[in-house]
Amino acid sequence: MSQSVHVRPFRDLLDSGGVVEDPERIATYTMDQRQLFTGSTFAVLKPATTQQVADIVRLAAHYGIGIVPQGGNTSYCGGATPDASGRQVIVSLERMDRIREIDPVSMSISVDAGAILKNVQDAAAAAGLLLPLSLGAEASCRIGGNIGTNAGGLSVVRYGMTRDLLLGIEAVLADGTVVSDMRKLRKNNTGYDVKQCFVGSEGTLGIVTGAVLRLAPLPTRRATAWLKLAKDAPIAELLTLIHRESAYLLTTFEFMTSRSITLATEAITDPPSLGAGPGGAVLVEFASSSRHLDLDELMEAVLAEAIETGCVDDALLAQSGSQRTAMWRLRETIPEGEKRRNGSVKHDISVPLSSIQRFLDLAGSQVRSYDADLELSVYGHVGDGNLHYNVLVPRDVDRLEFTKRIESSLSLQLYDTAAALGGTFSAEHGVGRFKKHLLARYSDPGRIAAMRRIKTAFDPADIMNAGAIVCPMGGKSAS
Ligand code: FAD
Ligand code: MLT
Ligand code: ZN
Repeated sequence: MSQSVHVRPFRDLLDSGGVVEDPERIATYTMDQRQLFTGSTFAVLKPATTQQVADIVRLAAHYGIGIVPQGGNTSYCGGATPDASGRQVIVSLERMDRIREIDPVSMSISVDAGAILKNVQDAAAAAGLLLPLSLGAEASCRIGGNIGTNAGGLSVVRYGMTRDLLLGIEAVLADGTVVSDMRKLRKNNTGYDVKQCFVGSEGTLGIVTGAVLRLAPLPTRRATAWLKLAKDAPIAELLTLIHRESAYLLTTFEFMTSRSITLATEAITDPPSLGAGPGGAVLVEFASSSRHLDLDELMEAVLAEAIETGCVDDALLAQSGSQRTAMWRLRETIPEGEKRRNGSVKHDISVPLSSIQRFLDLAGSQVRSYDADLELSVYGHVGDGNLHYNVLVPRDVDRLEFTKRIESSLSLQLYDTAAALGGTFSAEHGVGRFKKHLLARYSDPGRIAAMRRIKTAFDPADIMNAGAIVCPMGGKSAS
């Protein structure tokens, strides 16, 4: 079928704003966020309603055209970009961005899946509530993408991942069936929890068109501190102490090595001089909506205890909103700092908290014996056992070629180490197309078989994001 024949049925279905055919405009959708891969498509479809999504899916299934759902295209694993065949169409949810309803009493928000995360946070805040999902890409990622990747981020230690925030869903299955379960119930034990199938499914089971998300009371008080760690500080023990003493008010425990802090500092025009200790630094935050608690007092007491243990050399408690913002800015600018330098090979690993120090020690030796000149940028959501153990691309080398070399050698050693410690090669970024081979390498065969059966039940013809995660039973490849 020629390209124009592919697109014709969709043109009849959507208004002119709903079909993008101009190659220049298409190009912004076919390249992944890290510019490691460019796929090909004949069109980007932008439905405005759930009914249009269902009609698109039915037509695509009829013509045997594959579909790649896309939100903000900020994912790190190439899951939102089509393959090179030109036979997959991108379905972008960007025109479906409404806030449908906020229920302050039930503490829930119902949204279109194309709503930008930041806009949903803002809408919740305007009603005096918090959407407790926060990540560096929040100004451009969309709720459907957050569900597709089961996004984590900066407050998981308190509120959990996207999975933990999802109360209800609306989604279109691979044959056009609409699953409509936009309830805001906390309890609903009526059979399989179908909505959870879509979480982390990266567009392979259907297109999410709406979601109901759990909200929390909006914190009115925060205590934010920057801790400089002593040499060889046992990070997991520090976390245990802070967690225990924070009375469940700990919302953030973000670890950063001094190299990562320097990268962020170099990317900021007027950077704060916070620095790190020999063991790195940790950004800690407590938050509460209660007017009856003095969080600064609590934080000061906890920090004093932490300093007494010898884990922490020095700690700075933010004295103003601008000091707090400066601390956060430094943490959140690390990915940009890596990018400006020439990028990084990202390793989004997680291990049980009890093994985090062991991972750092073993991985450090592996990197040194692989190439003593390699530079690392190590930081992450240690409160969740999640490290971004990134290898910096040297300034003068080809980024793509270097990434391929590291990913086929050193990365596997690092993932082997994480796996041997009971960990995983992808804590929060997903599998997509880039990490599919790792799923085959590290997952229990029974688990992969179960995943393929789920995929087969939802999408036997492999219409939905073929090439990501797993293929159905009887499909082209083993995984
Ligand atoms: P996309 O990239 O568009 O899509 C992601 C996947 O979901 C794809 O497989 C796609 O097919 C599928 N999908 C998209 N929309 C739908 C839908 N409506 N229905 C079904 N499937 C769909 N991630 C974290 O977890 N934690 C972080 O701290 C974090 N920080 C980041 C910081 C930066 C600077 C950047 C650039 C990225 C970061 N990410 C982080 C990764 C990324 O932002 C998340 O994975 C995010 O959830 C992706 O959302 P998106 O809308 O961009 O999805
Ligand atoms: C983060 O935590 O900042 C991201 O998940 C990691 C990254 O952007 O590399
Ligand atoms: Zn992260």
